[in-house]
Amino acid sequence: MRRIPSWIRVPIVFFIIAGLIEYFVDSGDKPAFIEQPAILLFLLLVLLILIAIEAIVGSIDNVLYQSLDEAAKARYDAKRNAPSKTVQWIGSIYKKLVGGKPIEEEHEIILDHNYDGIKELDNDLPPWWLYGFYASIIFGCVYLAKYHIFNGDTQFDELEAEIAQAKIDIEEYKKTAKDLVDFNTVTVLTDAGDLNAGKAIFETNCVACHKSDGGGGIGPNLTDKHWILGGGIKNVFKTISEGGRDGKGMIAWKQSLKPSEIAQVASYVLQFEGTTPAEPKAAEGNIWVNEDAPQDAIPTEVMEIKTDSVIVIENN
Ligand code: HEC
Repeated sequence: MRRIPSWIRVPIVFFIIAGLIEYFVDSGDKPAFIEQPAILLFLLLVLLILIAIEAIVGSIDNVLYQSLDEAAKARYDAKRNAPSKTVQWIGSIYKKLVGGKPIEEEHEIILDHNYDGIKELDNDLPPWWLYGFYASIIFGCVYLAKYHIFNGDTQFDELEAEIAQAKIDIEEYKKTAKDLVDFNTVTVLTDAGDLNAGKAIFETNCVACHKSDGGGGIGPNLTDKHWILGGGIKNVFKTISEGGRDGKGMIAWKQSLKPSEIAQVASYVLQFEGTTPAEPKAAEGNIWVNEDAPQDAIPTEVMEIKTDSVIVIENN
């Protein structure tokens, strides 16, 4: 049997092993051997071992060959150089598919024409062509029946169905991927788990300036109805994520908090409203009224109303 040369076999086996490792080791976006240098070492070792095996098998082969007598050597060479079974099999399939007459039998099918010595053979249609033709007829019947008799989905229908499904999938995904929220999509979280997480974030990061009861210090009082940068979950989310006005001391927290965490702490901050802190800082900013809230919820003493869209209404 003719053998695959070792310089092809070694890389093939090596890349199969490397590919399997890549497939089974969960390494995120990066290749496994970059994420985990130990794998690189392992692959180097595998490569060395493969080369060593090749070298050992090669030299054993050689030693055994040298120990053979002449007749055995000849038999061995003959066997080695005989075409492999696979090659023979591919060859015979090819012949069957082409279906040509061997050159010695061409005289049986030669036609009577002779154009300046150019003659014509009356070959049968090659089987690959003929069966392909039959297959396309069967395909044509099935196609006709499916789309013109039974009105199967056209490509437009399929596209629409896929888009509809994709929209559903995106909604599902957004529900699980909490970090996709931004100030446009954020909603007040009411789950006790989220609020506790928000409280923990507040206690670690914010109490230095806002006090743990939200009464305010360096930062403004968070318990009153007044907001400098706008109240409501969207504005509060935006302030925490993007920071306050320049030079005031409220940094953009999006560097250190995930969107889901900002949503949690923003929801927690909104809980302060209406509570009475120990040392409340004087109110700053304007009374904020939710545009979406029912009309009668707007307090009548409001002189200036700041809304999400920064519309200022004079009340009289
Ligand atoms: C270094 C002090 C400091 C820290 C820490 C701090 N803030 Fe502030 N915060 C401020 C200041 C100052 C302002 C006012 C910004 C302005 O006037 O633009 C502010 C404003 C705000 C506002 C808007 C208030 C309004 O009236 O519009 C919110 C909400 C807020 N902070 C929440 C937080 C949260 C949540 C944290 C913790 C993740 C935090 N802050 C951490 C100083 C701080």
